[in-house]
Amino acid sequence: MKINGETKLIGFLGSTFKTSKMYAMYNAAFEALGLNYVYVPLVVKNLKKAIKGIRHLEICAVGVTIPYKIEIIPFLDELDNNAKRIGAVNVVLNKNGKLIGGNTDGEGAVMALKEKTEIKGKKIILLGAGGAARAIAFAVKDADGELTILNRTVSKTEELAKAVGCQSGGLEKLSELMSSTDILINSTAVGMTPNVNQSLVDKELFHKKLTVMDIVSNPKETKLLKEANEVDCQIIFADRMLLWQGVLKFEMYTGIKPPIKIMEKQL
Ligand code: ATR
Repeated sequence: MKINGETKLIGFLGSTFKTSKMYAMYNAAFEALGLNYVYVPLVVKNLKKAIKGIRHLEICAVGVTIPYKIEIIPFLDELDNNAKRIGAVNVVLNKNGKLIGGNTDGEGAVMALKEKTEIKGKKIILLGAGGAARAIAFAVKDADGELTILNRTVSKTEELAKAVGCQSGGLEKLSELMSSTDILINSTAVGMTPNVNQSLVDKELFHKKLTVMDIVSNPKETKLLKEANEVDCQIIFADRMLLWQGVLKFEMYTGIKPPIKIMEKQL
């Protein structure tokens, strides 16, 4: 990679800036295509001032992760329609000085699912009603899945289900719905390190026709995925969603189709 006076800077904002695999993934892709971009961490001390920095330094785009996905919104000029309905952004583009927020999380999850299964007409349970769930719920609905959202706090589920236009309920509905379900997605933090012995689904509810995806990426094989795998369900690891949300962002950053195999190898 040759940095020169024409190099375009793309930054990354978020708590995982030290450990993110995205630097390797994007920079290898830029290099492979001979694109004069570089993807670097931006360490945030004050978010409002950091956004001013993006404008004044003509940084051409930033990737955004927790804890800034919602907090960043008031400092942007516009949200695209998808980020607007989700209420969170994971990417900001600097278009001639105008900062525009977008969100590729949900579509990334749908692309990860589509590698293993159809979505159209399938009965899908989404566990959780937080930020990640919002992104996935709209995208699954766009892909014509028959969606039911289940969450510990039912009022949050009802609100999201109303916005998306789907069924909802509490976690206790799992036992009654699972036998007729095709796809189960965990979008809660349950099972994440250090709570690796937790899962929201009793093992006896899994059946062979089921596809199970977890958005928890640490550990890679969560208790949910391990138990689903033991009864021969198809399983989808969180890193597939990570890849596809990044593939989508690459195209937004550069306007060019990304070298997916190279990005995949870096992950
Ligand atoms: P994110 O933006 O990553 O989705 P979030 O907005 O804090 O994070 O949402 C976390 C989700 O995990 C919520 O659906 C939360 O359920 P509540 O709405 O009831 O809080 C769910 N969650 C977290 N810990 C949980 C637990 N121990 N049992 C069940 N659900 C849990």
